[in-house]
Amino acid sequence: MTQVADTRGLNAWRNATRGTVALVPTMGALHDGHRRLIAHAHGEADAVAVSIFVNPLQFGPDEDFERYPRDLDSDLEICRADGVDVVFAPELHEMYPRDPEVTVSAGRMGAVFEGASRPGHFDGVLTVVAKLFQRVRPDVAIFGQKDAQQLALVERLVADLDLGVHIESVPIVRDADGLALSSRNRYLSAAERESALALPRALEAAAHEATTAASAQDAARRTLADAELQHPELSLDYATLVDRATFTKCSPDFRGDAVLVLAARVGATRVIDNATLTFG
Ligand code: PAF
Repeated sequence: MTQVADTRGLNAWRNATRGTVALVPTMGALHDGHRRLIAHAHGEADAVAVSIFVNPLQFGPDEDFERYPRDLDSDLEICRADGVDVVFAPELHEMYPRDPEVTVSAGRMGAVFEGASRPGHFDGVLTVVAKLFQRVRPDVAIFGQKDAQQLALVERLVADLDLGVHIESVPIVRDADGLALSSRNRYLSAAERESALALPRALEAAAHEATTAASAQDAARRTLADAELQHPELSLDYATLVDRATFTKCSPDFRGDAVLVLAARVGATRVIDNATLTFG
C-alpha cells in the first residue's frame, strides 16, 4: 500500500496506475462502516484510494473539529488489511494552503435539515469533495447511505458541475444493538448510547406503520417523543419523510420510495439516522 500526503505523491501514484480508480473519501477514525465502503470500492474499480482528512470547512465554530477522533496509525492498519492501494492523508496546509475565497455552495438542498442545524456544513463538504475529486481523479466514488443528505448533495454536485465521477452508495452498517455506526459514537457514554437507540427504534416503528407516509412519520415522532420523556439528554431535531433526491418533504399521501431522516442531540453529540420506506 502506498501512503501519500501531497499532490506530487498522489500524482505519481495516479499516473503510474493502470485501469479504473475508486475513491472512498473519509475523515478517518475508520470503523466497519468505512470497511464496507472499501469492500464495495474493490468491486467497482481496479484500484482503491482512501482519503483521510478532517475537513475544517465542514465544522461550525461550536462543533467538534478540534476533538474529532484522529488515529492515523490505526486507520492505516485497516486500509492495509483491506487491500487499499493508496491512502491520501494530507495535512491541513496541503488541502488549504490559504483560506479559500471560492467555495462550492450547496444551495437550497444544503440549507435544510442537517444544513439548517449546521449552517455552512454542506458547502464545506462539497468543497472538499470537489477538491478530492480533482486531486485523485477517480472514476467512481463511494459514500455511505447513513449521511443521506450528503449523498444526495454529492450526486447533485457531480451532475450540476459535470464532474464525471460515478457515485455509488452503500447501506448503513449497524452495531448489534441497532445503532448506526459513526465515528462520533465513541463520544457517547453507556447511558447516552441507550438514549441514542431511540433513533433506530423510531425507524422500526415507522416501518411497522408504513401504510401511509403520514402514519409512518407520526409513529417515528411518537417513539422519539416518548424517548425524550424517558431520557432528558435526548433532544429531537427532526423526524421527517423526504424525497431521496431533492430532500423536499413528502406529502401525507406520498406514494413511492421516501427516506425517513432523523436527527437528535444526545448530550453534546449529534446523532443522525435514516431508512428508506416504500408507500404503495
Ligand atoms: O462523510 C465524511 O466522512 C465527510 O463528510 C467527507 C465526505 C469525507 C468529506 O469530508
